[in-house]
Amino acid sequence: MTAHIWRVLAIYVILAASLSEQQALKQACPSCDGSQLCNCSSMGLDFIPPGVTAKITVLNLAHNRIKRIQSQDLQQAVNLRALLLQSNKISSIDEDSFWSLEKLELLDLSNNSLAHLSPVWFGHLFSLQHLHLEGNSYRDLGQSSPFSSLKNLSSLHLGNPQFSVIRHGNFEGIELLHKLWIDGSNLSQYEQGSLKSIKQINHMILNLRNGYIFSEIVRDLLHSVTWLEVRRIAFSIAAEMQVLRVMSSSFAKKISFRQTLLTDATVPEIVSILEDMPQLVELELVDCRLLGTGQWKMEIQAKKSQTLRILTIKKLSIEEFYLFTDLHSVEGLLSLLTRVTVQNTKVFLVPCRISQNLLSLVYLDLSANLLGDLSLEHSACQGGWPSLQALNLSQNSLSDLERTSKSLSHLGNLIVLDISQNNFGEIPDVCDWPKTLKYLNLSSTQIPKVTTCIPQTLEVLDVSGNNLKEFGLRLPLLKELYLTRNQLKTLPGAAPIPNLVSLSVSRNKLNSFSKEEFEGAQVGAVHLSLMECHRSLVVSLICVLVFLVILLLVAFGYKYHMVWYLRMTWAWLQAKRKPKRAPPKDVCYDAFVSYSENDSDWVENTMVRELEQACPPFRLCLHKRDFVPGKWIVDNIIDSIEKSRKTLFVLSEHFVQSEWCKYELDFSHFRLFDENNDAAILVLLEPIQSKAIPKRFCKLRKIMNTKTYLEWPLEEEQQQMFWFNLKIALRS
Ligand SMILES: *[C@@H]1O[C@H](CO)[C@@H](O)[C@H](O)[C@H]1NC(C)=O
Ligand SMILES: *[C@@H]1O[C@H](CO)[C@@H](O)[C@H](O)[C@H]1NC(C)=O
Ligand SMILES: *[C@@H]1O[C@H](CO)[C@@H](O)[C@H](O)[C@H]1NC(C)=O
Ligand SMILES: *[C@@H]1O[C@H](CO)[C@@H](O)[C@H](O)[C@H]1NC(C)=O
Ligand SMILES: *[C@@H]1O[C@H](CO)[C@@H](O)[C@H](O)[C@H]1NC(C)=O
Ligand SMILES: *[C@@H]1O[C@H](CO)[C@@H](O)[C@H](O)[C@H]1NC(C)=O
Repeated sequence: MTAHIWRVLAIYVILAASLSEQQALKQACPSCDGSQLCNCSSMGLDFIPPGVTAKITVLNLAHNRIKRIQSQDLQQAVNLRALLLQSNKISSIDEDSFWSLEKLELLDLSNNSLAHLSPVWFGHLFSLQHLHLEGNSYRDLGQSSPFSSLKNLSSLHLGNPQFSVIRHGNFEGIELLHKLWIDGSNLSQYEQGSLKSIKQINHMILNLRNGYIFSEIVRDLLHSVTWLEVRRIAFSIAAEMQVLRVMSSSFAKKISFRQTLLTDATVPEIVSILEDMPQLVELELVDCRLLGTGQWKMEIQAKKSQTLRILTIKKLSIEEFYLFTDLHSVEGLLSLLTRVTVQNTKVFLVPCRISQNLLSLVYLDLSANLLGDLSLEHSACQGGWPSLQALNLSQNSLSDLERTSKSLSHLGNLIVLDISQNNFGEIPDVCDWPKTLKYLNLSSTQIPKVTTCIPQTLEVLDVSGNNLKEFGLRLPLLKELYLTRNQLKTLPGAAPIPNLVSLSVSRNKLNSFSKEEFEGAQVGAVHLSLMECHRSLVVSLICVLVFLVILLLVAFGYKYHMVWYLRMTWAWLQAKRKPKRAPPKDVCYDAFVSYSENDSDWVENTMVRELEQACPPFRLCLHKRDFVPGKWIVDNIIDSIEKSRKTLFVLSEHFVQSEWCKYELDFSHFRLFDENNDAAILVLLEPIQSKAIPKRFCKLRKIMNTKTYLEWPLEEEQQQMFWFNLKIALRS
């Protein structure tokens, strides 16, 4: 019995503990709640939060301050596929921390503070495919191989600025890698044969400064690497290039140079090394700098690579590109090239002779350069690019569509042409395109309409991002049409484009969209945004919403006299901006009379007659008579008060309810109602209950309570007395 109780208690304790742990995880990163994907990146965590269970498959703990990984931290996470721990401060990992992670495929420990790597950590990671260890502080990989259990490893990133030794056996157990990146900028010792144990590496990235080490490593990789990428090498004189000579025996098919410095002296060396490579097909230069003007020595022509077919140059900065004219030394290399990309390199001309030498060229990408109409005419000269099938001139300086088409019309094999992101602005009625053209990209070229300049042979047409109002072309072969970001009001008709399969029309001004418009067409995919599909629904929804908001505002405004307060604020602001009371010389009225339309009969007939025909007469300012037309009422009032010695308020129940608001500005500006100022005179036409005055007119209530006022008597004989008092008040 007691045993039973103990067992229940134990289960209860374990359950409670696990519940509170899950609570802890939920608190540390709320997104983990009940989710398989747990993103706790950048949460300022100091440790791995407890409660990581078997449910979680992706755990992102990157960019925190975690220092240590302990045995129990990930013990429950048996279904984890990806564990991201990069950019923390991890300096210690318990040996068995990762032992339950048998399904883990990605482990990122980069940018931490690991000073050594232990083979025991990775001992159970049988499914691991990607391991990132770069950016730590280890100087070597230990005496044996940390990777020997990683049978399924496909990519491995290694090294850091302190990494200095690679030993024999460090890569034991790895047979095949898709990608191996070694950041060895300070690598100073490499035991011969260390990398030879890997039978095949598809993409090897080397970031080395020591040329000797470089050649040692490449020597071990001659037969295993398919694509060798060299980063951050800076050789400025030819002699230094000799360490690269070993590459010429490599069986790599592709060589990339990234962030590499080239000079007129080293280019011929590199070319001659690459020419010797028996299987080199592709050369890539990315983000490199070339110091020089192309004055290369002639030996380049001596031998010719028989295998090089693909040349890619992206973002090459040539400091003196405008002096760069002499390219004839490479002409001999060109005839076998089939694909050339020169992107973002300030190319403004391809010399005709070069074009004519590109005999096998099928694909040419010259996007993001400086080609203009004239230089295109010269570059695509007669006999140039005779085999070309695809040409990319996107993001250049072309401005004349007719001329562009004419320059290219003789390219008898051209199928794909991308001239997007040029500034044509206009489109002629007739153009002269190659007869073979099937794909034309005219997106973002500022064309206002489409005309028969667009060739009938097209199967794909992109005219998105222009100013099109309609599309009425007949294109019998067209399969894909891109019309996004225009100003179309209606869809193109189906009959003129009978073979259309895909149509993109989002972000236009379509009003109606009916299926019938496309009956008979074989449109498989029409890409519309939510807005276009349900335009009427969306519009009604928006209308209803706007209406509700307005209703709310009105109700709110009515309840709290919003409009009144707004107007008063505005008037107050206006008054604040005005200078203080006008100097006395501007005073031209004895009194400004403020009264309500209801009381106009009394004011305009009785009072005006009495006061203006008195001896000496009073000069009164009445808004009907004396206000400057066209000025806002409040401005007029303020002006008139400023020009009058006194202000006479004719108060009645009606005035208070309807007109007082115009005056309840911040009259302190005029000190009208100060105790010692008697510029304000109040006349009560009828008795007013202080209670009848709305609460918000606190100033009026105050005046009524503190100032004496003149009351208009109904009895004839008392009226004489009233006038007498009023005149005295006005003169005072
Ligand atoms: C995880 O969160 C960070 C920042 O909170 C964010 O930048 C990142 O895109 C998120 N990752 C995923 C996969 O949602
Ligand atoms: C590691 O840090 C370097 C330098 O601070 C940075 O460039 C790199 O993107 C970081 N890597 C990762 C995976 O965060
Ligand atoms: C190894 O990776 C492949 C995919 O690259 C996968 O199909 C296979 O199941 C993995 N093997 C193990 C033991 O996880
Ligand atoms: C490079 O290695 C040398 C010794 O081999 C060491 O003195 C130097 O500090 C290292 N440089 C960096 C950036 O760690
Ligand atoms: C042309 O180059 C641009 C920019 O480099 C790219 O976005 C576009 O996809 C390319 N066009 C074709 C047809 O490959
Ligand atoms: C046309 O060019 C633009 C810009 O270069 C690009 O974004 C778009 O994908 C291209 N269209 C097609 C159909 O390839």
